[in-house]
Amino acid sequence: MSRLNINIPPGVLYLIKHTPHLLFPPVTVYVFLFLGHVYFPDSTVSLIGGWTEIFLHILSLPLALTLSVWYTDLVNAWNAWKLGAVMAKSPSLWEDPTPGGFLSILRMSKAMRSGYPAEQLRHRLDTLGHTFNMRILFTDRIFTAEPEHIKAFLATQFEHFEKGEDSRSTFDSLLGTGVFAADGDLWKFHRTLTRPFFNRDRISHFDIFDRHAEEAISQMRERFRQGWAVDFQEVVSRFTIDSATEFLFGKDIGTLNEPLAYPFYAFSSSNNTSNTHSTIKSFAHSFTSAQMHTFHRARWGKHWPLVEFWKDRTKEEMKGVRRVLDPILVQALERKSGKQGEEKEEEGVKEVRDREVGEGETLLDHLINYTDDPVILRDEIMNLAVAGRDTTASILTFTMYMLSQHPEILRKLREEVLQKIGGKRRPTYEDFREMRYLRAVLNETLRLYPPVPFNMRQCKDGALLPPIKPGDKPIYVPPGTRCAYSVLVMHRRPDLWGPTALDFDPDRFLDSRVHEYLTPNPFIFLPFNAGPRICLGQQFAYHEASFFLVRLLQRFGAIELVEEAMPLTGRVPKEWKDEGGIKARERVQMRSHLTMYVVEGLWLKMEEAEEVTEEEV
Ligand code: HEM
Ligand SMILES: *[C@@H]1O[C@H](CO)[C@@H](O)[C@H](O)[C@H]1NC(C)=O
Ligand SMILES: *[C@@H]1O[C@H](CO)[C@@H](O)[C@H](O)[C@H]1NC(C)=O
Ligand SMILES: *[C@@H]1O[C@H](CO)[C@@H](O)[C@H](O)[C@H]1NC(C)=O
Ligand SMILES: *[C@@H]1O[C@H](CO)[C@@H](O)[C@H](O)[C@H]1NC(C)=O
Repeated sequence: MSRLNINIPPGVLYLIKHTPHLLFPPVTVYVFLFLGHVYFPDSTVSLIGGWTEIFLHILSLPLALTLSVWYTDLVNAWNAWKLGAVMAKSPSLWEDPTPGGFLSILRMSKAMRSGYPAEQLRHRLDTLGHTFNMRILFTDRIFTAEPEHIKAFLATQFEHFEKGEDSRSTFDSLLGTGVFAADGDLWKFHRTLTRPFFNRDRISHFDIFDRHAEEAISQMRERFRQGWAVDFQEVVSRFTIDSATEFLFGKDIGTLNEPLAYPFYAFSSSNNTSNTHSTIKSFAHSFTSAQMHTFHRARWGKHWPLVEFWKDRTKEEMKGVRRVLDPILVQALERKSGKQGEEKEEEGVKEVRDREVGEGETLLDHLINYTDDPVILRDEIMNLAVAGRDTTASILTFTMYMLSQHPEILRKLREEVLQKIGGKRRPTYEDFREMRYLRAVLNETLRLYPPVPFNMRQCKDGALLPPIKPGDKPIYVPPGTRCAYSVLVMHRRPDLWGPTALDFDPDRFLDSRVHEYLTPNPFIFLPFNAGPRICLGQQFAYHEASFFLVRLLQRFGAIELVEEAMPLTGRVPKEWKDEGGIKARERVQMRSHLTMYVVEGLWLKMEEAEEVTEEEV
């Protein structure tokens, strides 16, 4: 079931791979001294020996590194000049005099663990503009929040920017060979294979959403009636993974069957059940930790094995995830061998096959027609589980966070829900097309709190990014350069969105501001990316989120953020209030691994609405 089961520590593998590079400088010194001794026995070279020789060997490594860095910089500058371009601006040495920008990496790690999203970039953005060179570990690393440049990565120069080897090496333990990390023909294979499953016909059946939304909402209602706050983020993570697994694989993993978490103060020593172990809890925990480790390793690029020398931490966490996802795979494989009329007619196989006839083909069945390589199948499952769970959970979580902070917007949204659908009826595909305010609320959440706030591409063979201001020169991106971009930073720029850019205001998607800002330049809003690799699940996600919100707002009329229920480590630091801007308004902390989430959960209480009958509406 798994790849080669020989466990060589990642650091050792890394060293083996890079031994030739590491040995080259000292070997050169050795050869040089040796030749000196042989051919020039009377020169100073032949006098070198003992400690001096050892010192020279050791010194050869940083020296070679410095020379190669200088050489690369020279070549790049030369190539840029030939093309009439410039290199992206780098921070001055003054700011970070440490070799390899080590200080910057440490600062960034700290900010990523405890700060506000993108805060670690604030200073650079202010001094260097919206596209600059981060220069990490002696290599160029472009960062941008410039729509023209993100557009180049994703659309206009798609063929020059790929996910790249560096990303694949980082993401391999989490995503393997699936659609997310693949490039070229392998990516096309995955994309072609998965696309038909997101067509209109397949995403307009809301049975799956309805069942799981009902489970989630009644669990919450039960808790609210007992007076408890609920971690909404946890609830919707379960809702989205159950919905996604049923949609894609024909069978949900049943996370909503387990009781919800209580706030941390709910227990005394006599009724403490928070330490009970469950597969679902460890699934959720492993899933999150695996993404977290992957995200943190990303800043080391392909050198990550040096930081996880003895153990691939992501791989460890993936074991908890596989315990839940592997049975789906095994069943699907059994189903296939059952279909092929093999003699083994076990009960399990037969039962699954019977059920499958009624449900139609799932993505997994479809996939199995092409391959029964369990590694490929499992990677694909994992990719789609990552794609489908946390992203949609994120938009739902941040929408509810905003609704809890803006009662006026909540009132307006409920009004639309009750007017268009009423208090009981199940919404349909057609309903959503007419619910412009709901869309605007979702869009506004995607703008201020994009579920995928940061992303990365790698330049294949060199490229030019267009100049932003007239009279500027284009920016040269050397082959192999890693290019990070942030839609979060872009979505919050007042020069692109107007003076109210930092306010949560859904009307900006409905009034004259659309024509002023978004229509002339659609690339300022990219929550789902753009170009050939645009999110496949976009419509699925809009409908899933819309469905859940409508069902929720039909039942509940008021939403309250319960800060006391948040564990201390999740609460907003007092200093934030004094720092102004959007940070001063935040009531929760947020962070991102691959997707953005609320630290320690979004603890809410909701008030049940009065029953609205169909006739009243
Ligand atoms: C609000 C919810 C969602 C957001 C904001 C979102 C965002 C994104 C983004 C930014 C990408 C591009 C990643 C990259 O190329 O670097 C992406 C790709 C993708 N998304 Fe989503 N996504 C959401 C929901 C979903 C759902 C529910 C599914 C499926 C169940 C899904 C399936 C995919 C797939 C398969 C890709 C890979 C496309 C490719 O590389 O060709 N997404 N998504
Ligand atoms: C645990 O017991 C305490 C009192 O002993 C009670 O207040 C609390 O509600 C109980 N917690 C749960 C989750 O039932
Ligand atoms: C309940 O159990 C958890 C996990 O074992 C523990 O951390 C916590 O301190 C316990 N709480 C009480 C009130 O005993
Ligand atoms: C997969 O195989 C089954 C039977 O083996 C067939 O009925 C079905 O049409 C195939 N699906 C695809 C997409 O090839
Ligand atoms: C929300 O954003 C999408 C993508 O840009 C756009 O197509 C749609 O019209 C927007 N909806 C509203 C109501 O603003």
